Amino acid sequence: MTTKSNANSVLILFAHPALQKSRVNVRLIQYVRDIEGVTFHDLYEAYPDFHVQVQFEQEQLMKHDIIVLHHPIFWFSIPALLKEWMDLVLEHGWAYGRRGRALKGKKLLSVISTGGRESLYQKEGYNKHTIGEFLLPIRQMAYVCKMDYLPPFVVHGTNTITEEEIVRQGECYQKIITSLRDGTIDLDAACSLSRINLDVERIIKGART
Ligand SMILES: Cc1cc2nc3c(=O)[nH]c(=O)nc-3n(C[C@H](O)[C@H](O)[C@H](O)COP(=O)(O)O)c2cc1C
Repeated sequence: MTTKSNANSVLILFAHPALQKSRVNVRLIQYVRDIEGVTFHDLYEAYPDFHVQVQFEQEQLMKHDIIVLHHPIFWFSIPALLKEWMDLVLEHGWAYGRRGRALKGKKLLSVISTGGRESLYQKEGYNKHTIGEFLLPIRQMAYVCKMDYLPPFVVHGTNTITEEEIVRQGECYQKIITSLRDGTIDLDAACSLSRINLDVERIIKGART
């Protein structure tokens, strides 16, 4: 596969504390980890002791245009190591604050899976809030760091998901990452969606042809 010279670079920060027990994310990452122009970084593999290398992580962020936070939802939030990573790496004066402009203009995409079905993540549903609302701290982090927040890629209902749906979501993830890399996503159309994987054909330029 050749990559266009004007392609964006993509950093996937993956956080799953028990990948050996994973059914969904272990499959999803296979669709994206070897794409040219994508750096795949498994945080739990790199830092089993939680000793995050701040300078290395900041250098990685600086080298990439699109930052992906990929993880399962745990207690309506992010896994502990990703929180530790955020607390340590996104320093004042570097990532945010008057002089903190290191991440300005980079795009941020959350890729998440939930055990709960989509119907539970509605105002009237069991969880009383949408997944977009639960991701508000990530959205605000992006805002404070002057990044462009994209609607999340969400795989709901992992407790009952079928094999066919895992494959479909994997292929969709691959298309979206490749299109973000190549700049062929209609960002206005994407930002009008509640989740970026809701209508791939609509947001990828030329996908319907
Ligand atoms: C500690 C823990 C907390 C969880 N919290 C939630 C939750 O708040 N909401 C939800 O929908 N699913 C929750 N789940 C389910 C996971 O999101 C689900 O198992 C995961 O997305 C499946 O992906 P995997 O097959 O890659 O492990 C939780 C699972 C664990 C182990």
